[in-house]
Amino acid sequence: MTLRALHKRARRALDPVHYDYAAGGAGEERVLADNERAFDRYALLPRVLRGNERRDTSVDLPGARRAGPVLVAPTAFHRLMHPDGERATARAAAAEGAVLVTGTAATVAVGEVITAAREAAAGAAVWFQLSMHPRREVTEALVRRAEEAGCTALVVTVDAPVFGRRPRDLRNGFTDLPPGYAAENMRNLPGAPPGGLTDIPMSPALSWRDFDTLRAATALPVLVKGVLHPADALLAVAHGAAGVVVSNHGGRQCDTVPAAVDCLPAVAEAVDGRMPVLLDGGVRRGGDVAVALALGAAAVGVGRPVLWGLAADGEAGARQVIAELRDGYDHTLALCGGGRNADLTRDMVVRRGGTW
Ligand code: FNR
Repeated sequence: MTLRALHKRARRALDPVHYDYAAGGAGEERVLADNERAFDRYALLPRVLRGNERRDTSVDLPGARRAGPVLVAPTAFHRLMHPDGERATARAAAAEGAVLVTGTAATVAVGEVITAAREAAAGAAVWFQLSMHPRREVTEALVRRAEEAGCTALVVTVDAPVFGRRPRDLRNGFTDLPPGYAAENMRNLPGAPPGGLTDIPMSPALSWRDFDTLRAATALPVLVKGVLHPADALLAVAHGAAGVVVSNHGGRQCDTVPAAVDCLPAVAEAVDGRMPVLLDGGVRRGGDVAVALALGAAAVGVGRPVLWGLAADGEAGARQVIAELRDGYDHTLALCGGGRNADLTRDMVVRRGGTW
């Protein structure tokens, strides 16, 4: 089944309110649309006769040596998509050798997510997406949970100082999770509510000082997710981040920002190899992965397509999505004469309809 067919099937399978929660974006959904459309504006100029008989598409990421270049981006509430929820996503990612970034807002606790991943593949790498709480002890309790479970990196989301305004959710009155569902990682934290939709930590008061405090409180590498401005990427380097994720949260936060991939070249240039730059938003085919890597990304995250796979066919559907993107990428790399990810370079990306 194609990714498009999986999406259709997911749409039919899901409660329309939950479908809208996952599919929708902020405001008029301009950024949501532009994330995908932006990839149509790029084309690859292949190189030929490069003598690369074999290909190795692995990449060394913080806490995930020799991972594939396609990661599962952190998305909330997988049990709304399929009863097996994050357990199924974890097994799928592990079986396909992809890093899973499990979220603060997961509907399965991080310990169970890691158990499921390791059952599928002993060396599975799981990272923890952290929404920092304005109260330090709550953040640190979350970090301890991720560490004790066996996560090998933290990914701190910084583009959600406040909740995005998402008209579909407002129209549908989607203000809380159905009974029996919760953000399980938020349970029984000191002084924190039990993990409804609106209990996910967010605060405009957070600053780089809180990031420093977080870094001092853990030995895990900490990546920063949700950077679009090159100056913030430089601050991430200065504050000892292990990597940066160029992301606009899949168009779910500010509806006036550029497409994520359009922000990638300037960030990659500013970082200049001092830490890995990752990208998410709008990646829908193997060729998109190749464009992102050529523009300077070390790896890409995929959000909604994995949710559609999960909703359509549980673990098998999620696996299919990850495998399709990975294999599509490998095929594109071959067609560009490459043998390694680094063989895709910026000079090989041109504007579709012209050569700049
Ligand atoms: C997200 N995303 C997200 N990001 C994050 O840092 N914490 C979170 O809790 C969530 N939750 C979430 C829920 C849903 C339903 C979606 C679709 C997305 C954003 C996610 O990590 C990623 O940035 C985007 O999904 C990437 O865009 P695509 O691949 O969905 O286009």
